[in-house]
Amino acid sequence: MRVLVVGGGGREHAIVRALMRSPQRPELLAAPGNAGIARDGVRCLEIAADDVDGLVAGAREHDCDLVVVGPEAPLVKGVVDALGAAGVRAFGPSAAAARIEGSKSYAKELMGAVGVPTAAHAVLRDRGEAEAHLARASYPLVLKADVLAAGKGVIVCADEREARAALDAFFEERRFGRTSVVAEQFLEGEELSLLALCDGIRAVPMAPARDFKRIGEGDRGPNTGGMGSFSPVPGLDDERARELAQLVHQPIIDELRRRGTPYHGVLYAGLMMTAEGPKVLEYNCRLGDPETQAILPRLRSDALDLLERSARPGGLEGARLEWSPSYAVTVVLASRGYPASSSSGDEIRGLDSIDSPEVEVLHAGTAERDGRIVTAGGRVLNVTGSGATIAQARARAYEAAERIEFEGRQMRRDIAARTAEEVSA
Ligand code: AMP
Ligand code: GLY
Repeated sequence: MRVLVVGGGGREHAIVRALMRSPQRPELLAAPGNAGIARDGVRCLEIAADDVDGLVAGAREHDCDLVVVGPEAPLVKGVVDALGAAGVRAFGPSAAAARIEGSKSYAKELMGAVGVPTAAHAVLRDRGEAEAHLARASYPLVLKADVLAAGKGVIVCADEREARAALDAFFEERRFGRTSVVAEQFLEGEELSLLALCDGIRAVPMAPARDFKRIGEGDRGPNTGGMGSFSPVPGLDDERARELAQLVHQPIIDELRRRGTPYHGVLYAGLMMTAEGPKVLEYNCRLGDPETQAILPRLRSDALDLLERSARPGGLEGARLEWSPSYAVTVVLASRGYPASSSSGDEIRGLDSIDSPEVEVLHAGTAERDGRIVTAGGRVLNVTGSGATIAQARARAYEAAERIEFEGRQMRRDIAARTAEEVSA
């Protein structure tokens, strides 16, 4: 089996590692990959993750049996459709099914059609409509760009004044292009990421995870792509995960099948566990980043088998996902300026000092220059620690993360801290 992994972040490095553990011993390629993926002996092709034509040509040239697509951009652009048309099997949804992430208003329409619980919302098409809405809205109010925005298109507004300022970003500055805005009721509670493998017919939940989206400790500051994660979530057993998947995944899978756009790949539900029960904040059409870096190291089943089966209609029938009983905590190391900007070219030191079976260092924004590993993006590295308890997994992740140094390194020190305390109390 020859498998091409599309993407070059920490999520894709985690996918590569999971495939390396497959008893089928697939030959792996990546496009574009990163320095860590290359160091694992995987050939990295110089093709951008969102270059659909380039990816199809690369998959054909290298005679790939399966393409595993990590990021959302190529999925929303239709890479799975294009590969299919060229006779190459791929893991991930078609463009029509990936719209569930590409358009927040489409996701809302789908949820409304099948009764999935979510926040009340309004679609604001222009500044006039938006101004009228702000005057009668209740606060805090959440405003979301109706396009892909790498997790940065959401603004939580405490009052009408803040909301007006946000309208400038959306409709004047056009920070996210010419897009409508979805205004949504503010929900309170604990967040939960529940990802499910889907084969067009059924949704099989993976181990639940939590991620930390804000740049600052105590969940302060702007949203990022994610600064850390852990899995599983204490108190949320398999039975509960299955119940949640019946509530928020299966109805969507059934509806998309009915509409003639069956969903294959991973459907990621971002949930808020509110006092009134779970509500969906968003759907993503792919594995989460950095949730995957905490989820996949615990997978004991053959990842290649599961990804292949998801690509086939009904292929997951009878599939069982086996997980290690340990916990995993992932800490992200980001570069100076992130998330507003990022710095690159700074040498990363200390990587070779980490040698523990309980720690996995996954690369994201890294590059190799003259035999040295340097920073090459906003989120640079992910350090995942495993342990019998959350506290132990956390301690191992931080102990290793502290040994890695580069100019301007940013790291949240409170990933999984509150949960570790709650569990031991
Ligand atoms: P999204 O991309 O829609 O998941 O939003 C990114 C993040 O913004 C979420 O993970 C939440 O932390 C926050 N958020 C989004 N929608 C809401 C909401 N309705 N109420 C409270 N927080 C929200
Ligand atoms: N960790 C959030 C996401 O992958 O969208």
